[in-house]
Amino acid sequence: MCGIIGYSGHRPAVPLLVEGLHRLEYRGYDSSGVAFEQAGRLHVVKAAGKLAALEAKLENNAYLLATSGIGHTRWATHGLPVEKNAHPHLSQDGDIAIIHNGIIENFQEIKDELSARGHTFLSDTDTEVLAHLIGEERKSAPSLCEAFARALRRAHGAYAVVMMGVEEPGVIYAARMAAPLLMGVGVGECFVASDIPAFLPYTREVVFLEDGEVARIEGAKWQVFSLADLSPVKKSVSHVPWDMQAAAKGGYKHFMLKEIMEQPRVITDCLTGRVSEGSDGELSVHLQELDDIPVPARLHIVACGTSYNAGLWGQQLLENVGGIPTDLDIASEFRYRDPILLPGEAVMVISQSGETADTLAALRLAKEKGCRVIGLCNVVGSSIAREADVVLYTQAGPEISVASTKAMCSQMVLLALMALYYGQRRTPAVFDRELLAALHALPEKLSAALPAMQERAGQLALRFASSRSFFYLGRGQCHALALEGALKLKELSYIHAEGYAAGEMKHGPIALIDPQFPTFALALDNALFPKVKSNIQEVLARQGRVIALVQEKNGKVPDLSVEELWVLPAAHPVISCFFALPALQLFSYQMADYLGKDVDQPRNLAKSVTVE
Ligand code: M6R
Repeated sequence: MCGIIGYSGHRPAVPLLVEGLHRLEYRGYDSSGVAFEQAGRLHVVKAAGKLAALEAKLENNAYLLATSGIGHTRWATHGLPVEKNAHPHLSQDGDIAIIHNGIIENFQEIKDELSARGHTFLSDTDTEVLAHLIGEERKSAPSLCEAFARALRRAHGAYAVVMMGVEEPGVIYAARMAAPLLMGVGVGECFVASDIPAFLPYTREVVFLEDGEVARIEGAKWQVFSLADLSPVKKSVSHVPWDMQAAAKGGYKHFMLKEIMEQPRVITDCLTGRVSEGSDGELSVHLQELDDIPVPARLHIVACGTSYNAGLWGQQLLENVGGIPTDLDIASEFRYRDPILLPGEAVMVISQSGETADTLAALRLAKEKGCRVIGLCNVVGSSIAREADVVLYTQAGPEISVASTKAMCSQMVLLALMALYYGQRRTPAVFDRELLAALHALPEKLSAALPAMQERAGQLALRFASSRSFFYLGRGQCHALALEGALKLKELSYIHAEGYAAGEMKHGPIALIDPQFPTFALALDNALFPKVKSNIQEVLARQGRVIALVQEKNGKVPDLSVEELWVLPAAHPVISCFFALPALQLFSYQMADYLGKDVDQPRNLAKSVTVE
């Protein structure tokens, strides 16, 4: 996830671009850059680190004459967050500059082809390959726009790309495919950006671009074309009433809500480049990062908090689908218990931030003991990402809200992919086609289900907001979700909540059940449903109030005689967890919001726990 902005108008472009990038910094911030045209030449200035580093480089430079340009703030996906990988990137002849958000999946194939034709590349990015491809296409295309479109028609994956070329001063082109991009229409000026805050001080008139569309802006003029044949597309201008704060949150009341609702896109981003469809329509999983290391004889997962819960969720899949014996540890315990790590085994640390002190210490201990470490991490260039032997990035984008939501979703996707990947590497190979197909189809289905889930969460929060304690019960993979549901409720609303493996209730905790102590039961449609149903009966028999999260089956809703049923769409038993997770998150969110708590920054918590 990166921030992109393009401008064409009458103002000095460079300071405007940098100011716009500041407002997009929440989308990524490991490096940044701008490009602009001056005196018949494209100029690019870029810097690693925060935007201040770029500003320092731009100081005292007479860049103020340019009235069009493009700017980018990066959240690394290909290549380290260093200056050479920062955007914009240039074509081989330096006449075309582009910025990009997303992943060009077939970049290696294109790079090899261009290298054979004599192209040399200065960065490790897929974006530079695309810039070169546009330049190459320009040699035969009748116009810059046609070259842009031809190159993009060859690119697979998700992208929002903005381009400028020295041959058309003052003109900016932009195109999108499964990545955010919109246009701002001001007076005598136009903008393209990945998000509205980038240009909000100048205009609230917005044109929302769709996948497969190309926009051209030039001062007051703007046009939109179809990428397929460059035929004109009729678009309307919408007025956006948001203020700056609302715009940064995408119009949502809190970052947490925005991040919960972003999960379908996060899943798409996690799958991009990792799941491909063969000519026979068969899907397969690619985790190149793991190709060069042997299949571990045993995997020790180590993490904290929500990341631990994700690990617990993945453990069963790694064993059953991947065939890898898998243990799980809380990082703060692992580091002090002198674990036995045998040759051939691997440790996998899971961390959104990549900076959690206990997890980092566990990683170092594993390395000291000679064990190979796999990092499952969201933040590129973080300590864990740098110190792990192999890193799998979760592609959730920056998570602003202190409570982790979309990061857990992305960790679950990666764990499922790992299980499928190791299944493919088994002898004989195990292909869980049903699971992979269901994962592939998930973003669309989840996206359709989320609005109704938010509404249902709101109704239940109203009903249960006066409760002072909650049980969360689940079995199998839903045990991990029960722990996560309880953690979210505690963190956000400061209501006492305990997550339990439902079968453990009768061994003690059931003593707490009374009409004031409600239970949130995860009774999804899987092999353990009859068992959970019995556990719910045990709670009901003690006058406990129950909210049961269930799924439709053959058009019917299970009859559990509980106070509240929350019905989720039918889904593959593993995939149903990706519906249950946002349900739990939304319930905690609605409770906290209703109770007037500080949703994005709950008391006593830090986003990144860098102390013991
Ligand atoms: O950045 P990490 O994933 O390593 O963070 C681990 C925990 O600190 C984190 O998940 C914490 O539990 C969150 N507050 C959960 O919402």
